[in-house]
Amino acid sequence: MKSTASAPAKPPEDQTTTSRALCSRLPELRKKLRFAKSFLRHRLVHVNLQILYSCNYRCTICDFWKPSWRNKPILSAAQAKVISEQLNLLGPQIISIGGGEPMLHPELTAIVSALARHHFPVMITNGSLVTPTLARALFAAGMVEISVSVDYARPDKHDAQRGVAGAYARAIEALKILQANRTHPEQRVNMISVIMNDNLPEVEPLLETCRQLGITYLVTLYSHSRGSKPERLAAADVGEQLLSIKRRHRHFVALRGYLEKFTEAVAENGIGQCQAGRDLWNIDSQGDVGLCIDRLEDPVGNILSEDVFELEHRLLERHRGNQCRDCWTSCRGSIEAVRHGRSKLGNLFDYYQMTRLVHLNGAF
Ligand SMILES: C[S@@+](CC[C@H](N)C(=O)[O-])C[C@H]1O[C@@H](n2cnc3c(N)ncnc32)[C@H](O)[C@@H]1O
Ligand code: SF4
Ligand code: SF4
Repeated sequence: MKSTASAPAKPPEDQTTTSRALCSRLPELRKKLRFAKSFLRHRLVHVNLQILYSCNYRCTICDFWKPSWRNKPILSAAQAKVISEQLNLLGPQIISIGGGEPMLHPELTAIVSALARHHFPVMITNGSLVTPTLARALFAAGMVEISVSVDYARPDKHDAQRGVAGAYARAIEALKILQANRTHPEQRVNMISVIMNDNLPEVEPLLETCRQLGITYLVTLYSHSRGSKPERLAAADVGEQLLSIKRRHRHFVALRGYLEKFTEAVAENGIGQCQAGRDLWNIDSQGDVGLCIDRLEDPVGNILSEDVFELEHRLLERHRGNQCRDCWTSCRGSIEAVRHGRSKLGNLFDYYQMTRLVHLNGAF
C-alpha cells in the first residue's frame, strides 16, 4: 500500500531563506542569458578597458611605463559607470580591466562594482599590489577572474623581464592570496605568460607551480606591433609544442583553437581576418573607442560623449576595412577560436574548463 506519510514541511524561515537566495541570483542569471544571446548572435562580447597607463614595473616587452605614456588621464569610477551603462545597451560583455597596472588605480573596487552591475569584469595584473583585503573587496565587488602575469619559472629571468627585483616572488604570493580570497566558486585565478623567443621551456615548470597552487594557466603570444619593441619570435613549431603540453596538463586551459594558430602566427608575423571591432573593442582611459590595444592612436570616437550605437556602426565599418594581421594575442585569439575556430566542440570544451566552477578552498 502506498504510504500517505509525506516529508515534513520545511520550516517557513528556511523557505524564506531559499527564495531570498534565488531572488538574489536572478539578476546574475539574466545577465548570463543576455550574454549567451549576444554570443550566439555574433554581437560584441569582449571589451578591453585600460583604466590608467601608469605602471610600477619596467617590462622589456611593454611601452606603457615609458615617458610618452606618462601623465595620461585616468578613468574615474563615475566614468566607468557611464561606460558600463552605455555598453549595456549592446548587451553584457566580458570587460577585461587592464592598463598600465590596474591595481595602482585608487578607485579600482568602485570601478569593478560599476562594471559588474551589467557585465563580467576580469583583470590582468602584475601582482605587485595584491593584499588579502583588496583581493576580497574586488571579488565581493563582482570580479569574475584575475590573472597574474608570470613569464618565466626562473625568478631571476622574470624579474629581469619585469625590470623589478622580487617581481616573481610577489606574483606567486599574489596568486596564493587571490586563490585564498575568492568569495564564490565562479571566480577564477589564472597565471598568464606572454610566449616569446626564450620562454617556451619555462611553460611546463610554470604549469607545475600552478598545479601546486590549484590554479589554471593561460598564455598569450608576444606582439611587437605597438610602439618600439624588438621582434621576439617564438620557436617555429610553438603551436605544436603548446598543444602537446596542453594534452599533458588539464589545468592549461587556453583554447586549443587559439594555440593551434601560434605556428602560423610566428611564420607569417600575425594572423589575418582580425575580428577586432566586431567581436572585440578597446576602450582607453579617456573613453576613446578603437579596434584594439595596439591601435590606440586611431579611435573611432568616445564612449563618454557619443551614442554607443553610432560607435558600434563606426567600429563595424573600421573592422570591414581592417587589413591588419599584426598580432595573435589572446584577447583576439580566444574569442576568434570559439566563434570561428575549426574544432567547435573541442573549443567549447576548453571554454567550459576555462570558466567552470572551482570550489572555494579547492583546487582546479
Ligand atoms: C599590458 S598588461 C596590463 C596588466 C598588468 N600590468 C600586467 O602586466 O599584467 C596586460 C597583459 O599584456 C601582456 N603584455 C605586455 N606586453 C605585451 C606584448 N608586447 N605582447 C603581448 N602581451 C603583452 C602582459 O604581460 C599582461 O599579461
Ligand atoms: S607590468 Fe604590465 S603595464 Fe606594466 S610595464 Fe609590465 S606589461 Fe606593461
Ligand atoms: S591584428 Fe587585430 S588585434 Fe592585432 S594589432 Fe591588428 S587590429 Fe589589433
